[in-house]
Amino acid sequence: MINESTMKTLINESKQSNKLTKKRIKKSIKNNCNKSRIILFLLFILIITIVTLISIILSKNPFMFIRPHCKAQYGKSSLLETFNTLGKLETGMMDNNNEEYKVINYLGFTGKYQFGEAILKDLGYYQPKDNIFYNNGSDKNNWLGTFTGKYGCNNYQDFLMNKQNVQEIAIREEFQYNFNILNSTQNNNNNDNNNNNNNNNNNNNNRTLLSFINKPFKFTGGCNISVNGYLIKNITMAGLLAAAHLVGAINVNNALLNGVAPCDERKTSMTSYLEDFDECDFSEYDVNEAVTNNNNK
Ligand SMILES: *[C@@H]1O[C@H](CO)[C@@H](O)[C@H](O)[C@H]1NC(C)=O
Ligand SMILES: *[C@@H]1O[C@H](CO)[C@@H](O)[C@H](O)[C@H]1NC(C)=O
Ligand SMILES: *[C@@H]1O[C@H](CO)[C@@H](O)[C@H](O)[C@H]1NC(C)=O
Ligand SMILES: *[C@@H]1O[C@H](CO)[C@@H](O)[C@H](O)[C@H]1NC(C)=O
Ligand SMILES: *[C@@H]1O[C@H](CO)[C@@H](O)[C@H](O)[C@H]1NC(C)=O
Repeated sequence: MINESTMKTLINESKQSNKLTKKRIKKSIKNNCNKSRIILFLLFILIITIVTLISIILSKNPFMFIRPHCKAQYGKSSLLETFNTLGKLETGMMDNNNEEYKVINYLGFTGKYQFGEAILKDLGYYQPKDNIFYNNGSDKNNWLGTFTGKYGCNNYQDFLMNKQNVQEIAIREEFQYNFNILNSTQNNNNNDNNNNNNNNNNNNNNRTLLSFINKPFKFTGGCNISVNGYLIKNITMAGLLAAAHLVGAINVNNALLNGVAPCDERKTSMTSYLEDFDECDFSEYDVNEAVTNNNNK
């Protein structure tokens, strides 16, 4: 039998030890809490840093991770999709909207398709002053010349505001203009045996523009192309004309003949434009029709 006093002592001791345990638990919670606070804080800093880094990268190259890709049926709808994809790639905007028409880059390239002085001169919209324009006496598109009034476009503001849909008309005309350059230069190369023949699909030097379309094409060198070369899965009219918009029709023509791919001034290789449009195609007749009905957006 336990007597009363022993009982009391036991109860007291147990109370004491209870208190101690509670204290210990409290202390441990406090410690752990502090630790997890620090961990949470570090995690927070890490997330902020990652988000900041990603937004810096994306502000420099909005399509670093996912590029717009033109994927559409053959024909008219494909041509429309080509213009919309090209607009995104040129402006860096994720969606097509009216703001695209007002984009001006650091070199003075203008609008949804980032037109420069030279192409608008070739298309008859722009007359440079004293024959000076970007890459011909000027290191920027300064737009110091005059607009000719074609389709009611009388000055730079008209063009920038896409008055009467002028930018959409101009890109359709440009596609037709570049198609004609590509078609005639390639056809002229038909029996030219002096060409360095890197193109594994056209071994007989009997090349026309259409002979490249709907086939893979291997580039053996050029801007950003490794020693192993670079294979484009599917050359399309859409890809060729988008590439011609990027680096000029003459350069696309030379690239097809010698297998060496150029870049534009922002170091975008023509191969990326060929790939962006490798699931999108139309014919020159769709382009001609779009120019004839030049108000269909
Ligand atoms: C480029 O500039 C030169 C000299 O100013 C001029 O003679 C030439 O015509 C210009 N090129 C074009 C295509 O206008
Ligand atoms: C492409 O060039 C060939 C040969 O010069 C010509 O017969 C054909 O009409 C051209 N195609 C178009 C759509 O202009
Ligand atoms: C060249 O191409 C044309 C039309 O694509 C074809 O009729 C002709 O047989 C070809 N010639 C050679 C030598 O392959
Ligand atoms: C390759 O492309 C990257 C970005 O796409 C660019 O920064 C770099 O300068 C290019 N390299 C060459 C040799 O053009
Ligand atoms: C190339 O792309 C067009 C358009 O999507 C498609 O119709 C065609 O079958 C493709 N060709 C090849 C060889 O992949």
